[in-house]
Amino acid sequence: MLDEIQKRLPNYIYSQDFCLIEPFVGGGALSLWALSELPHLKKLIINDYNADLINVYQVIKNNPNDLIEHLKKIQNDYDKLTDLESKKPYFYQKRDMFNQRNGSDIEQAGLFIFLNKSAFNGLYRVNKNNQFNVPIGSYKNPKFIDEDNILNISKKLQNTQILTGDFELVLHYIPNDLPCVFYFDPPYRPISDTASFTAYSDNGFDDNEQKRLARFCQKIDKMGHYFLLSNSDPKNHNTNDDFFDELYANFNINRIQANRSISANGKSRKFISEILVDNVLK
Ligand SMILES: C[S@@+](CC[C@H](N)C(=O)[O-])C[C@H]1O[C@@H](n2cnc3c(N)ncnc32)[C@H](O)[C@@H]1O
Repeated sequence: MLDEIQKRLPNYIYSQDFCLIEPFVGGGALSLWALSELPHLKKLIINDYNADLINVYQVIKNNPNDLIEHLKKIQNDYDKLTDLESKKPYFYQKRDMFNQRNGSDIEQAGLFIFLNKSAFNGLYRVNKNNQFNVPIGSYKNPKFIDEDNILNISKKLQNTQILTGDFELVLHYIPNDLPCVFYFDPPYRPISDTASFTAYSDNGFDDNEQKRLARFCQKIDKMGHYFLLSNSDPKNHNTNDDFFDELYANFNINRIQANRSISANGKSRKFISEILVDNVLK
């Protein structure tokens, strides 16, 4: 999606200082790209409801070397286990440790990265009690440390404000001396009864939440800021479903082709339409 998002960013970001705000940062694809490629990015604000994920950003920012040392230990242990059967007990023991959440911030961040790289399909899924419940994946030699990458991101995050909470929290942090660009990538609205793309976190993001987000976008628009928002396209499944067309009727809605990288059934991966909403003047 990055190419399509880039095309719709306002032109001024290439010549004028600005602030980027990502209230649903997740893996931060856009923010990390912007940190390396946009020299006029003077301030970045990232937020996510998932406190375990935000802890990883904080640890990368503040303790990258301790994290690397911790990951080296895990890598060493895991590499000694030569086949999947012997890796299994180690994986489930680490998953239990993560779920107990009584390790240090550095240990918890290390476990998060370990699980992200060794669990099935790189999926992050928790149950109602916020217990990570993805089974082991069948990777032969997963790599948990990219030392240069961690150190590089750590340097780049030094001027980043990192928040944990609901997306509306960012409202209190909007700088008044810089124009702001918001990118919203919320949990997607499921496109079929069986899809569960909303299962990113322990809170559900149902249609009322989608409506609350649309009201928030109206507010951001009235404040004079620019926003971009991505979501699934309900018309893939039901051509009469105008949910987002009605919700964002005042704004531009573009339908683009995207390749889902995570789906319940690997075989059903395909290009489907997604929507990108923005408030550039028509
Ligand atoms: C689709 S993912 C974002 C993916 C991201 N763009 C990336 O590049 O990886 C949605 C994120 O929203 C977070 N989230 C869910 N509900 C939220 C809420 N009410 N407020 C803030 N973040 C929320 C989830 O924890 C998840 O990380």
